[in-house]
Amino acid sequence: MLDNLLRRNRDWSARRNSEEPGYFARLATRQTPEFFWIGCSDSRVPANVVAGLDPGEVFVHRNVANVVHSADMNLLSALEFAVDALAIREIIVCGHYGCGGVKAATEDLPHGLADHWLEPIRRLARAYAVDLARCESTEARRDKLAELNVVEGVRRVAETPILQRAWARGAEISLHGLIYGLRDGLLRDLGCTVSHGKLEQEAAQ
Ligand code: CO
Repeated sequence: MLDNLLRRNRDWSARRNSEEPGYFARLATRQTPEFFWIGCSDSRVPANVVAGLDPGEVFVHRNVANVVHSADMNLLSALEFAVDALAIREIIVCGHYGCGGVKAATEDLPHGLADHWLEPIRRLARAYAVDLARCESTEARRDKLAELNVVEGVRRVAETPILQRAWARGAEISLHGLIYGLRDGLLRDLGCTVSHGKLEQEAAQ
C-alpha cells in the first residue's frame, strides 16, 4: 500500500514539474494563499480538490464535522497564522451533506471522545429542534443540521479576538459558509457571509 502511495507521489511530482518546469522550486520559496479553509476531515471533501485549487492556494484546517470550538488551540493557531502571517482575504467554513460526524451527534449511541467533540452540534440540534422536526426525513434533518453547524462556525470564527483585532486594524477579510454535496460534487453558498465584522444581510439593511 505504502509503495503504491510513494510511486503515485513520484509520478505526480514528475508530471507536475514537466507541465510547469521549476514549479516546486518556486512554491518552496513562499506561500501566498488567499483562502483559509475550515472543513471536515472526511476523505471525500479535500479542500484543494473540490475547490479546484492548486498547492499554495489554500491554507487548510480540518477536523471531524468541521466544528469551531472557541478554545481549540489547533484551529486558533492555524487561524492566527492565516490572518496575521499569511494575510488571508477569505475564510471558508465548509460542511458537507451526509456528514458522519453530524450523524453521530444525532444518535443516541456512545462514540467515545467524539461525543465530547461533537457537543456543539448536539447543542445546535436542541436549539433548532422545532425547525429540524419540520424536515421530511432523517437524512434531510441531518443535512439541515450540517448547514446550521456551518453558520454557527462562521459566527464563532467572527467572534474570535483574532478576527476582531484584524478587522479593528482595517484588514479586509470575509468569512463565508459553504456546504458541499457528496452526490453532485458542488459547493453551495449558505449566505452567511461576514465582512468587517458585520453580517452582509445586516450591512445591507
Ligand atoms: Co463530515
